[in-house]
Amino acid sequence: MAGRVIGILGSPLPEGNTAQLLDRALEGAKDAGCTVEKIVVTNLCFDACQEMFFCRDHETCVMDDDMQQLYPKVRDADSIILATPIMCMGIPGKLKSFIDRCQVFFMAKYLRKKSLVPAEKRVVRKALFICISGMKVPEVFVGAKLTVKAFFDIIDCTYWDELLVSDMDTIGDITQQPGLMDAAYDKGFALGKTLNP
Ligand SMILES: Cc1cc2nc3c(=O)[nH]c(=O)nc-3n(C[C@H](O)[C@H](O)[C@H](O)COP(=O)(O)O)c2cc1C
Repeated sequence: MAGRVIGILGSPLPEGNTAQLLDRALEGAKDAGCTVEKIVVTNLCFDACQEMFFCRDHETCVMDDDMQQLYPKVRDADSIILATPIMCMGIPGKLKSFIDRCQVFFMAKYLRKKSLVPAEKRVVRKALFICISGMKVPEVFVGAKLTVKAFFDIIDCTYWDELLVSDMDTIGDITQQPGLMDAAYDKGFALGKTLNP
């Protein structure tokens, strides 16, 4: 097995449509030879960033909560799959707070000019973004993509591919859409293959 892929779930529903797509993508990465781990953000106990700026001078956050266990996972991953529904034209609040708390990576990379992510990881790691929306309206993914692209930039993870599914209010149950489930698997597999050529 080569390559550690973490899946980050932004939906509060463990069996929801977003979770189903993420699970298929992680299955694909596993079948490509990677070890996988799913992180359910809504199960974590942490507060939003309080702008205490401890991370200006330190490699972590002063707030002692579940994010302390997450920083090494984000730092050491060889690739990341982030899956989220759209909420109010952006990403869910807890996922946004998770990303805000990753300001420790921003300060290291851009202020102190010394990324927390090891050089050998920086050259390989890639991001797959999975996102679903209830509505089918123009620009429904624009806000979410801006936020997650900023996240992947600060954690030194190249935005590699995406699976954006709109109109879920009409589709209903995504498991009844084999084409979409297969697309998630295939993208996860392809991501895993980049680590196991
Ligand atoms: C609080 C909330 C806000 C939402 N806001 C939007 C929205 O702005 N645009 C949209 O297209 N869908 C919106 N949705 C619909 C979800 O994106 C959609 O139901 C999605 O399939 C939920 O995925 P999940 O069941 O995997 O969590 C919203 C849903 C919730 C619960």
